[in-house]
Order: sequence, then C-alpha cells, then structure tokens
Amino acid sequence: MTQCGDVVTSEPVAGAGRWHLRGVRPFGADPVDVVLDGGMIVEVGPGLSPAGANILDADGLLALPGLVDLHTHLREPGREDAETVASGTRAAALGGFTTVFAMANTEPVADTAGVVEQVWRLGRDAGHCDVRPVGAVTEGLRGVRLAELGAMASSAAGVRMFSDDGHCVSDAVLMRRALEYVKAFDGVIAQHAQEPRLTEDAQMNEGAVSARLGLSGWPAAAEEAIIARDALLAGHVGSRLHVCHVSTAGSVEILRWAKSKGWRVTAEVTPHHLLLTDDLVTSFDPVFKVNPPLRTATDVEALRAGLADGTIDCIATDHAPHAPQDKETEWAAARPGMVGLETALSIAILAMVETGLLDWAGLADRMAIAPGRIGGLPDASPDGTRALSAGAVANLVLVDPAARWTVDPGALASRSRNTPYAGRNLPGRVQATFLRGRPTVLDGKIV
Ligand code: DOR
Ligand code: ZN
Repeated sequence: MTQCGDVVTSEPVAGAGRWHLRGVRPFGADPVDVVLDGGMIVEVGPGLSPAGANILDADGLLALPGLVDLHTHLREPGREDAETVASGTRAAALGGFTTVFAMANTEPVADTAGVVEQVWRLGRDAGHCDVRPVGAVTEGLRGVRLAELGAMASSAAGVRMFSDDGHCVSDAVLMRRALEYVKAFDGVIAQHAQEPRLTEDAQMNEGAVSARLGLSGWPAAAEEAIIARDALLAGHVGSRLHVCHVSTAGSVEILRWAKSKGWRVTAEVTPHHLLLTDDLVTSFDPVFKVNPPLRTATDVEALRAGLADGTIDCIATDHAPHAPQDKETEWAAARPGMVGLETALSIAILAMVETGLLDWAGLADRMAIAPGRIGGLPDASPDGTRALSAGAVANLVLVDPAARWTVDPGALASRSRNTPYAGRNLPGRVQATFLRGRPTVLDGKIV
C-alpha cells in the first residue's frame, strides 16, 4: 500500500527549503531516500537522516525526473477564456510537468520578442512550472515571411524552438530558410506536418470510417509527404527538425529512414494518438475532433512500436484547451484539440507501460529526458543518468503507480473541459511535483 502526503514539517523552511523524500523508487528501482536542498538533489541513498528537513513519506512512490512537454497551448495572450498561463501551468504541475513549451498560436501570435517575453514572464510569475515560449516561424503564422527568429532567440525568453503549429510551414523555401537560420543558435523548427491542399475541408482521418460517415477525409499522405520533404531539407542543410504530433504508421517509417541517414530529425506523439482511434468519430462528439485526426488501430500500433524503439523520441501532450462555444457545437464547426496535461502520464502508463512496451526508465526518457534534450533545456542531463542523482537540479515528480482515478472534467485545473477521457478510470496518480526543490504539488494538490 503506497501512501503519500504525510508531510511532517520538522522545522519550517523558507523557499525551496530542504526536503527529505523517504523511500522513493527512482525510475522504479529499489527504495532510497532523496534529499533536496537549495534547488538541487544533494544526496541519494538508503536510510538518510538529514537535519532540519521537511519529511515526505513517499514509501513506494516512483520518482521520475520532472516531465517536460514540448507542445502545450496556453492560449494567453488572447483566449484567456479557454486557458491562461496560470491555469495551464497549474494543470501541468498536477500532471507532473516541470517545464512546458508554450505554442505560438496565441492572439497576438508569439512572433516577436515582446510576446514571447510576455508569456515567459507570466509563467515565471505564476511559478507552477517553467514556461519556455515557442516562437512562430512565420509572421502571424501566415506562412509568407519569416518572423524575427533571432530577436526571439536573444530575448529574455531565450527561444530555441520555433513552430507555426496549427498551421504547416508548407512553402519549401521558407522551411529551408528557417532551418538554416536557427542553426546559428542550435535552434529547432517544430513542424505541424500537414500538406494544406490535400487537407482542405478535411474533417477526420481518410479511410473506411470517413467513407461510411460521408465526411471528407484527411489522408495519411498529407502528413507523410511533409515529413519526408522536411527530413530531406534538414539533412541537406544540416539543421534540426522536430516533427509535431506524428499520427500515422507511414510517418513512423519515414522517420526511421531519416534517422538511419543520420539526419537531425526528432519527433513526438501525443497520448491520444497512442490510445484513441477514428471509429470514435461515429459518435459525432466533437471532443474527438483533433488535428492531426485520430487514425486507425494499425496506426496506433505502429506509433506505440515507434515510441518504444526510439524512432519517435518523446510524448508531447498537444494540450489544446477550447471554450465551450468553440467546442460544444456541431462536428464541422468545432475547433480541433483536446486538453491533455493532467491525463498525459496516466494515458502513457496505459498505452506503454501496462502493455510492456516501456519500463519506468523508458517512460521517464520519453516524457522528461528526451524532450528536455530536444528543447535544449540547460539542465537537461545528456543521457538521463544524472537526472535523479546528487548534483542534479531538483525537478522531479513522485507518482503512485498503483493508484487509479476517474477523470472528472469539472475537477480539472485547466480552464477548459474538452477531455476525451471523461468518466474514464485511469492508472497512476501524481502525488508530488518539485520544481527546483520547491513543491508545486503535494498530496495531489497544488501547493
Ligand atoms: O488539435 C489541434 N489543436 N491541433 C493543432 O495543431 C492546434 C491545436 C489548437 O491550437 O487548438
Ligand atoms: Zn499541431
């Protein structure tokens, strides 16, 4: 029986303070004690008794590095009715995240140093997790002229990842220039791979279900053609490409080929594409409308295998909150997207750990270490070996792997309720999250 939350404060400690985590299992290994001090992990070993520490009886809880999400829509500035930096980062901390990358499709678009600095400051002031703004690749996400990539990179926000997510950078010359430009500061272009002409008016995955429902389809080739083109460009110019939310079996094959060439290509998959399939669209419930669309069981199987063997580097949520008037409407008018920060770890456990495809160390790699490396986080441990040892930054999450919980949309910290898992009973619960040694979540609640 695991239990957490018996927080005994021996001596009140200001700020991050000193924490004694008793009996945690790093990456699922044998229980040890972990001591946090001054924002760092200072000691790891059995039976420690540090003086003057807050004690957290973590008997049997898993300790994983703080999760990193490369793909979060925080909606601020502009759509604070759907989400704010504060509400989105509260959801992130509850989900075990210590860093989220905030996508640029805000209003105004995050295509200048001013907007990315604003988002970065809002994140810092809220204090629930680190917010790393993603800069737009093109002005206004219009796909016509490059945005001020250099100014965003040298701003206080220190942007390293750029994306027009929600839109594809479909012009091959612009994509090439963007890849060339970010080489100067080892940046990365994150592509939303969707050939626009092939997906005009598309409503769902193109296949047997779309044919039956009479909805216009979104062919797998529209995603795969862009990934192949951009991998070739990244290889040609020697720059870094990251592929957002890969959703088809063919995309996995193309990524495998691109990696075999030694090109600097990485990719992410969302929790929902690891679990859900396009037959859910027969309900016409817009909660299942997402971009890229839910695909087939064959695709899900290939995505899981690709994530397990490292062809797909990491999981990213594509947390996409939407206000009721934009989402709870008829299928064709509803915006695509699902909230995902608070359910990501549980869905990953369900799809990858309970199926035996990843162990806890593998899950930590796909949800913390690999995304930290791709996003260029300064404290990202190159191979993960230092992630939970003395000398590492104390970003970590404690998870009860035996706990189960039922998703109640009304109880989510996100301002929006568009989860596809309402009423679903899920495995694994975040008990505590520490950001640089300071608890942001204790006993499953925001501190
Ligand atoms: O489903 C999606 N929603 N996919 C995207 O690419 C954008 C996102 C959004 O911003 O809502
Ligand atoms: Zn996208």
